[in-house]
Amino acid sequence: MRRIKITWAKPGDILGYPIFRQDGAILLNTGVKLTREYIEQLKSLGVTHIYVQDDISQDIEISDPISIQTKIEALRVIADTYHRSCKGLSLDVRALRKIVDDIVDEILSSEQVLLNLRDIRSFDNYLFSHSLGVTVLSIVIGKNLNRDDKFLRDLGIGCMLHDIGKLDIPKEILDKPDRLTEEEFGIVKFHTQYGYRRILDQDGELPATSAHVAWEHHERLNGRGYPRGLIGEKIHIFSRIAGVADVYDAMTVDRIYRKAYPPNEAVEFIMGASGSLFDYEIVKAFLRSIAPYPVGDIILLNTGDIAIVVDINREFPLRPVVRVIREDGWEDIDLMSKTDISIVKSLEE
Ligand SMILES: [Fe+2]
Ligand SMILES: [Fe+2]
Repeated sequence: MRRIKITWAKPGDILGYPIFRQDGAILLNTGVKLTREYIEQLKSLGVTHIYVQDDISQDIEISDPISIQTKIEALRVIADTYHRSCKGLSLDVRALRKIVDDIVDEILSSEQVLLNLRDIRSFDNYLFSHSLGVTVLSIVIGKNLNRDDKFLRDLGIGCMLHDIGKLDIPKEILDKPDRLTEEEFGIVKFHTQYGYRRILDQDGELPATSAHVAWEHHERLNGRGYPRGLIGEKIHIFSRIAGVADVYDAMTVDRIYRKAYPPNEAVEFIMGASGSLFDYEIVKAFLRSIAPYPVGDIILLNTGDIAIVVDINREFPLRPVVRVIREDGWEDIDLMSKTDISIVKSLEE
């Protein structure tokens, strides 16, 4: 399968990966043949990209450490948790622990995890899919830092809830289509303290370290973050990991006020901020966790050719195997062996 812009979709295309709703329900499943109506509906819902199966991409497989069932359940638990917290009800801590355990188990049991699939986005609720995206990426980073089970589970719970304080921020500010004023941004910053409080209010049923993720995930290594301007190791390791995952996830998704950055550009930004905004060791583990040119994506080569990413070279993820599309067919080229060919850019846009 491959990933295409919704504007490129045509009736008859076969969906390669499900489209989820905010509560985890599946709107359109894998294998569905798209009709003009479906395509129009997806566009009007704000879906920007889909995975399709077609002749040219038939044999391209995108491995994903997290099963679709687990994702559906995770989105459901996140939605339920946020709704309960909003109403002042106690959280279903057992369900939360169970789903984080499942995510950790799936990540630990997949041999080499390099996140390729860019699907854990429900288009209608940024907060829920973002929470899941940050959780999965943080746990993979934690695994690549060789941390143990308990570490990954507590980290995961913190990430699932890291933005729960946004429940206390007025919707008009969160959904504002243009730049926030300084005053509005000052209000948004409070989601960190509010989140910390909401988690601690759970009668000690949740790990205190997980609450720190809510409080500190916008702190930065050099002290330029918020709310407290903590420096270096004063920031809990969970929060330093979640901070990287949070920025990556936020950058690679379309927001009302700006387009998504392609993964390679977000990776470059984070690499560039290694040692200043972000912990060097964590960035190193992050780079082993994410494919800058994910399998199934369409890219432009310096030869002027357009290609689909077919496979990743783990040691050199910037030089994947690509399928060059020609008028009369296609050719697979391993960019590791053709050093004169390079990737100009992702054709995300
Ligand atoms: Fe946040
Ligand atoms: Fe966030």
